[in-house]
Amino acid sequence: MTDILQLPQKPCALRVMPQPADANIHGDVFGGWIMAQVDIAGSIPASRRANGRVATIAVNSFLFKQPVFVGDLLSFYADIVKTGNTSITVSVEVYAQRMSLAEDIVKVTEATLTYVATDSDRRPRALPALD
Ligand SMILES: CC(C)(COP(=O)(O)OP(=O)(O)OC[C@H]1O[C@@H](n2cnc3c(N)ncnc32)[C@H](O)[C@@H]1OP(=O)(O)O)[C@@H](O)C(=O)NCCC(=O)NCCS
Repeated sequence: MTDILQLPQKPCALRVMPQPADANIHGDVFGGWIMAQVDIAGSIPASRRANGRVATIAVNSFLFKQPVFVGDLLSFYADIVKTGNTSITVSVEVYAQRMSLAEDIVKVTEATLTYVATDSDRRPRALPALD
């Protein structure tokens, strides 16, 4: 059964609407396209925390809970859940407003990714101290 939800009451990292070119041969949105958007959304808080460039080192988990359709309005919420010396782990949740309707919202994807802060030689770099 499909859950009917409200969008989380926090800023979203990214909002995007898949187009026909993003669909698979069956007409639904290609999972690889969603993975790319999730990677972009997760990199936003990671880059902010790193105060510079980051590279994705791992996709720890990825769950496609519901299909995504062309014309859905997708909202990506990205939160840092862990930091290490050079690494930042981010949880990303994706909600779809079907046909862009505010009253028809489903959570479609949840994922956890790890990014590493890198220097100009693409080597790991220690995270800056928090203020
Ligand atoms: C990112 C990169 C520079 C890291 O260099 P590395 O020598 O492999 O890094 P290290 O072994 O020193 O580990 C760096 C951090 O990543 C973490 N890490 C390593 N493997 C991990 C894994 N499988 N899952 C989660 N975290 C991992 C380490 O624990 C470490 O974190 P910490 O410093 O907070 O303790 C290098 O792996 C790289 O360039 N990878 C390709 C990145 C890329 O191109 N991504 C885009 C997709 S092609």
